[in-house]
Amino acid sequence: MTAHDLFLLSFGEAPQAVQTTPGRVNLVGEHTDYNGGMVLPMAINPHVDIAISIGPPGRASIASAQFETASERRLDERANGDWSDYVLGALRTYAETFGWRVAIDSQIPHGSGLSSSAAITVGVIKAAGKLVGDKLHDDARKIARAAQSVENDFIGVPCGIMDQMAVAVLNAGECMMLDTQTLDFDAVSIPPAWRFVVHHSGVYRRLNEGRYADRQAECESAALKLGGKPLCSYDLVSLEAASLSDLERRRARHVISENLRVPAARSAILSEDAPLFGRLMDDSHASMRDDFSITTSTIDKIVSVARSSGAFGSRMTGGGFGGCVVSLVLACELDAWRKRFERAAPMVRFVC
Ligand code: GLA
Repeated sequence: MTAHDLFLLSFGEAPQAVQTTPGRVNLVGEHTDYNGGMVLPMAINPHVDIAISIGPPGRASIASAQFETASERRLDERANGDWSDYVLGALRTYAETFGWRVAIDSQIPHGSGLSSSAAITVGVIKAAGKLVGDKLHDDARKIARAAQSVENDFIGVPCGIMDQMAVAVLNAGECMMLDTQTLDFDAVSIPPAWRFVVHHSGVYRRLNEGRYADRQAECESAALKLGGKPLCSYDLVSLEAASLSDLERRRARHVISENLRVPAARSAILSEDAPLFGRLMDDSHASMRDDFSITTSTIDKIVSVARSSGAFGSRMTGGGFGGCVVSLVLACELDAWRKRFERAAPMVRFVC
């Protein structure tokens, strides 16, 4: 059921506004965003639809196509672990004297590294902002910052800014290179002959489980020993000379090398060099597996099947510890590649 129809059914009238926000797949640049680095996300077709109207003051009635019962919340409530927390947090961007009716339909698998939560918070902030005439909804950077604050301060997820910027700026199929310190970005056109294919490992995770925060702490402690600037300010030579524990050295090596791969990947796109882009994806995956320790054996197997089936490159995408794998293949080889992949890994779900 569409968000519009769900709204009609739940509240007996048509919504005042409808908003669609895409998910994203990150092509290269993992765990660089909270280290002051670069990222290369692309928006994907699976998306979140939000239908919304102004409602009785101080309250939010939130219906979801994915959950049986609607959630009735007060706008001054804290997050309580309910699915509606992300919507409530986003609505709290605006004065609590407003009230809301929201219906939401998400096609993005949650806990999968495809920015389902950022798509909800950004979508709600955009849609609600339009209704109350707030200037915020005109500025993607401000929307992204507000959405990041919902996750960091309301929900308690210590994420960076990549996901919120990606889904606030991009439409499905569009890609950008983003500097996460300045929030400057460049559109990057994916060659029409390329296809990025996303498969789900079947392993779901939440970023507030602790392992994501562990990586942040490990990066922070390496950065402090290197001189106190964000990790991405350092190069591999200064890393060699620094006095770090083995763990800090590996974590820092992933972040610094991953950050270098982002502009290299952008150049590979601009010169339509699929083999080079594929190698950078493979290197990124190896670095996440060996130095950053955020892949799982299932993910490693999917990546290896994707490669042996003929992808130019393949890697885990997103925060890690589960979620999805993205692989690069040529459009003209896509069907044959998928047949080989599905024969070797029949249980692995195709996302897009
Ligand atoms: C999650 C976070 C992002 C980023 C990625 C890893 O998606 O929300 O901010 O840190 O993990 O690159």
